[in-house]
Amino acid sequence: MTLEEEIRRRRTFAIISHPDAGKTTLTEKLLLFGGAIHVAGAVKSNKIKKTATSDWMEIEKQRGISVATSVMGFEYRDFKINILDTPGHQDFAEDTFRTLTAVDSVIIVIDSAKGVETQTRKLMQVCRMRKTPVMVFMNKMDREGRDPFDLLDEIEAELGIKVRPLTWPINMGFSFKGVYNIYRKNLNLYTPNKQTVSETVEFNDLKSKELEALIGEKDASKLRDDLELVNGVYPDFDVKEYLAGDLAPVFFGSALNTFGVKELLDCFVEIAPSPRPVQAVERVVEPMEPAFTGFVFKIHANMDPNHRSCIAFVKICSGKFERNVNYKHVRLGKMMKFSAPTAFMAQKKETVDEAFAGDIVGLPDNGGTFKIGDSLSSGENIHFKGLPSFSPEMFKYIENDDPMKQKQLQKGIDQLMDEGVAQLFINQFNGRKIIGTVGQLQFEVIQYRLLHEYNAQCRWEPIRLYKACWIESDDAAELENFKKRKYQFMAKDKEGRDVFLADSQFVLDMAQEDFKHIRFHFTSEF
Ligand code: G4P
Repeated sequence: MTLEEEIRRRRTFAIISHPDAGKTTLTEKLLLFGGAIHVAGAVKSNKIKKTATSDWMEIEKQRGISVATSVMGFEYRDFKINILDTPGHQDFAEDTFRTLTAVDSVIIVIDSAKGVETQTRKLMQVCRMRKTPVMVFMNKMDREGRDPFDLLDEIEAELGIKVRPLTWPINMGFSFKGVYNIYRKNLNLYTPNKQTVSETVEFNDLKSKELEALIGEKDASKLRDDLELVNGVYPDFDVKEYLAGDLAPVFFGSALNTFGVKELLDCFVEIAPSPRPVQAVERVVEPMEPAFTGFVFKIHANMDPNHRSCIAFVKICSGKFERNVNYKHVRLGKMMKFSAPTAFMAQKKETVDEAFAGDIVGLPDNGGTFKIGDSLSSGENIHFKGLPSFSPEMFKYIENDDPMKQKQLQKGIDQLMDEGVAQLFINQFNGRKIIGTVGQLQFEVIQYRLLHEYNAQCRWEPIRLYKACWIESDDAAELENFKKRKYQFMAKDKEGRDVFLADSQFVLDMAQEDFKHIRFHFTSEF
């Protein structure tokens, strides 16, 4: 196969959802179709159950599982599919945001009884920012849910994207009879079944009396009415709008019952984008360029505390990556080769000789060689951007609790921050270190890992902060003036950029009011 053919057949995506909507179940069913696993129940969820806050074994186990399920590659029809897993727990939302920078499209799972939930809303913001094409799977149709038209309206309003149903449900809950595939013009009748796929009936002419014979008079007439309304309300599906990230095709089904999933997958492989061009600081990188480029979007620390080895996950942006070939680590300005790159096929990690744009390779790293956002290339000085940090939601001072272990603590904090576990700010007024996170669980993970992996003890001290904002201005004098006035609340982030730590919404509003030429950003990418 030529380089171009290899790259064109790749589909790299993530499934995102609010916890419990059915992401794990859907992932598993997709793997079943790809023959990557043979029984349902084989995929361990990469989610920390809500009860796990104080259950360390659970978190450690979780970290082990999530290496295996970080990327799941499999073949389906002529396509090579890479599913990137995202942590379900909202305290690790930052991880999910970063994973979204490495995918070419996204499938959103929504629980049809619950509709759009908070976590989905947040993740969709990132997709919108990046114009990522999204598809929606409306799950749990085997349960009593909300009216499909209402759900579609809610997605448009809440997620800020146009929708176009490509399948349509016949009832739901106890009276759920199946879905009509608008895209393919066939009918798939529902039988509750957790393992196999039911047969579909071709249906080019919905007026045919056969419909009554299959689903009864009442439902046949309702389906015809519904579809007339669907086609009246929603313009014809335009794949270009989907690829531009403006329109989401919607599928209905039940992941648990493997129902409506094949419709989703078949349409997905046909219309979802192959690797897309990536904007680097210097230029746009096209996937078909023969020279290899890629960036690190995730670092996974090993579970074995005695060997502080990590795996850096690299998304290949262009060309072909080969084992034992010299590539440039752009930040370090150093050529290096990798003798044991791993690929992730069917939940197994294996050493690979080559991988193509769209694929993810795992590079073992024993010495803190990689940081999140690092670029690799065949020699070009290229820097991939687009790994935004969001303002954390919670802040605490981190203090050394064992004076003999200052160095270990420093090293541990540095490495955990490079891994992207949380964000570090250094207060310019008193030099104290502040850790910002999305949730309480991250503080606990940091403390635990510092102790077990670095033999260092930390202590948290409270600080009342509302938001961290990255500031910039074209008016240098005003910026200086602001920094002077707010010197107690000024900090530097890991890259040495100026950050204003606002202790309340009111203070932030006042600052914005008083300093009109300063731009306050809530993400580090602006
Ligand atoms: P998540 O990864 O998005 O958090 O969700 P997950 O797949 O773990 O699914 C959450 C719960 O919803 C699971 O039940 C799962 O069995 C159920 N579920 C998923 N898809 C469907 C569906 O189509 N219909 C119905 N009725 N339920 C569905 P659980 O009881 O929380 O977990 P488990 O003990 O079954 O694993």
